[in-house]
Amino acid sequence: MSNLHNMTVAMVTGTRPEIIKMYPIMKQFDLRSIDYKYIHTGQHYDYNLFLKFIEEFEIRKPDICISADVSNPINQVANIMQKIGIVLNELQPSIVLIEGDTNSVLATALASLKSKIPIAHIESGLRSNDWKTVEEHNRKIVDHISDILFSPTGVSTKNLQNELVHGTIYTVGNTVIDAISLCFDKLKTDYNNKNDSNSFKSLGGYEGRDDFVLVTIHRAENVDDVSILRQILMALSDSNLKYIFPVHPRTLKAIQKYGLTRYIGKKIRLVDPLGYLDFLKILLRCRFVITDSGGIQEEVTSPQINKQAIILRDCTERPESVESGHSVLCKMEYKTILEHIERVTKNDPKKKISQSPYGSGDAAVKITDILKVKFSK
Ligand code: UD1
Ligand code: UDP
Repeated sequence: MSNLHNMTVAMVTGTRPEIIKMYPIMKQFDLRSIDYKYIHTGQHYDYNLFLKFIEEFEIRKPDICISADVSNPINQVANIMQKIGIVLNELQPSIVLIEGDTNSVLATALASLKSKIPIAHIESGLRSNDWKTVEEHNRKIVDHISDILFSPTGVSTKNLQNELVHGTIYTVGNTVIDAISLCFDKLKTDYNNKNDSNSFKSLGGYEGRDDFVLVTIHRAENVDDVSILRQILMALSDSNLKYIFPVHPRTLKAIQKYGLTRYIGKKIRLVDPLGYLDFLKILLRCRFVITDSGGIQEEVTSPQINKQAIILRDCTERPESVESGHSVLCKMEYKTILEHIERVTKNDPKKKISQSPYGSGDAAVKITDILKVKFSK
């Protein structure tokens, strides 16, 4: 194995979307025999949010799992920062690669900064200007202490330029589009295969059917607020549609804690968090999506997926998906949600698209090329 001309890369993930979006880069590194150390912070620790993806993507298991105390946000940041700091000081990598806006990303960036190790931030420049969310704080801090900023779109590049970040900005697309492309061949084979029911066993009776709406909700602003969570579930159960809801553990705990299980049943079917291929398959099969996810706003714009999404948020750091006509923002209020559901059901335009605003699936190639040029000695 060669490394990037004697450069050691430390690649760090903490949560499900970080693993999905780092996966194409790991594949590129493997393809080009570039050596790297893979570190997982343990923020997401359940098999369904962590190892399931590593097995499915056939990427290497983390070289180091730092198993920090992640029981609350303060511990997440403090503990991950301290433990990652120890690892980085031992490894002395030439660069630390991080992706996204989670507490793991913030903690890793701070540890790298204090250890004087350059930071490359993938998916930089996203801005919602919604300061109620933890992620907006994380994004802005991390972008301002990063040395290399891999921005997905022209919009995010402009945000970074306007804020006069000190690092070098490269507009490269989003690696989630690469992840879909990498999975799509296998997916198409399975999708067209009528005996595909195995991977749908967990969907309880929905095998092969296309008449459901896909729902995911996990954001703190929605699930930690009993009134909002109740209004979302009430609206879904009062509509005339059926829902498949792969449920994040945080959301499941909230539904149970707030006594909202009465809304769950035949109409709203909760299933365990799905692996990526299964998730893409139901994304392909569903009528449309209702979600508060960041990554799903990007995925629906991919030409392979091309779905409508109702986004349960006041504002978004991913305006490209709204502009391309895939996503529509929706206030988390009972009546407004029902109105949006009705509108999307009546008006389900399936316009053809040739390219996602998030790129054409070559972001990981571009990122790897840039790192090689930048760090070749
Ligand atoms: C985190 C990120 C969010 C990202 C999401 C991706 C932060 C502040 N939030 O939110 O930006 O969109 O990941 O999914 O970094 N839990 C489990 N098992 C796990 C992980 C979590 O049961 O493997 C439960 C725990 O009760 C935990 C709660 O979920 O307290 C919240 O987990 P946490 O990682 O803090 O935030 P997420 O909601 O997952
Ligand atoms: N996802 C998945 N299985 C699921 C739900 C989501 O594989 O059951 C994928 C989804 O395709 C997307 C990513 O997880 O790529 C989004 O994760 P999440 O919504 O938890 O985080 P966010 O993107 O909001 O940070």
